[in-house]
Amino acid sequence: MSAAVPRGAGVIGGGRMGAGIAQSFATAGAAVTVVEQDEAAAAKVRERVAGSLERAARRGLLPAPPEEILGRLAFVGDVSGLPADADLVVEAVPENAGLKARLLAAAERVVGADTVLATNTSSLSVTELSASLSRPGRFLGMHFFNPVPASALVELVVPDATERAVVDLALAWTAGLGKKDVVVRDSPGFASSRLGVALGLEAIRMVEEGVAAPEAIDDAMTLGYKHPMGPLRLTDLVGLDVRLAIAEYLHRTLGERFAPPALLREKVARGELGRSTGQGFYTWND
Ligand code: NAI
Repeated sequence: MSAAVPRGAGVIGGGRMGAGIAQSFATAGAAVTVVEQDEAAAAKVRERVAGSLERAARRGLLPAPPEEILGRLAFVGDVSGLPADADLVVEAVPENAGLKARLLAAAERVVGADTVLATNTSSLSVTELSASLSRPGRFLGMHFFNPVPASALVELVVPDATERAVVDLALAWTAGLGKKDVVVRDSPGFASSRLGVALGLEAIRMVEEGVAAPEAIDDAMTLGYKHPMGPLRLTDLVGLDVRLAIAEYLHRTLGERFAPPALLREKVARGELGRSTGQGFYTWND
């Protein structure tokens, strides 16, 4: 698949993921319109991207000066401000199906018939989100990983209705970002979350059963299987509450093997959410 850069891209929601997605497309040369809720939120996105670009520049990773890349970003307060001729619009608002469906439908009314719409959902059904659209064939999941500019992968999540030409465009844009793709048929948890959560839940059950301490379980995976990070440390970084929400969804959709362990529920109830609260399976002092 040959690499390409969308001429114009839109990103709805400039949080942790949206800011990274906007930065990545702008770095590749695209003009990017970011939709955020108000001016204060937009200023935060610009600051976040500027800081990240400065760090990348110091490490010699940018093809152009950071100010030039930052100059490719524009900010609007509502999806009605998206450019009608955008090649691609990626939705990256919080993991709430109703909110996502509403914003995607509103964006579809603004953009042209050829624009590809994508969602960065990490767990919701892409097919169900497409129910709000009148052109489901132009829609797919583009699941980016955190931190987006440094991550090597985009998981393309493809509902049955998505046109082949749309998948080909998404493949070309992924290559244009310098990232590798995996293509997955839309199904609960896709490939990455389903396997990642399965490993994390089993590791938690092992702590629960007293099989080994968290450090030992993580060492077994990092040293024995060359995983860059153990499943329990990763759970702390992602957030135990986020993991529990995804596990509950996978439990509902895929069955008993994703039943959340009692220890996970107890820790979430105690507010031990991982790094964000200072305590999860590890104690965090940063
Ligand atoms: P976040 O909470 O950091 O960012 C969401 C942004 O959306 C916020 O800046 C918020 O102001 C904005 N927003 C909310 N309502 C809006 C509206 N009506 N119009 C415009 N902007 C609006 O969330 P995060 O972590 O960036 O996640 C976003 C999506 O990406 C979620 O679906 C999440 O599941 C998915 N995801 C998250 C990953 C992660 O590691 N955080 C990894 C992969 C996917």
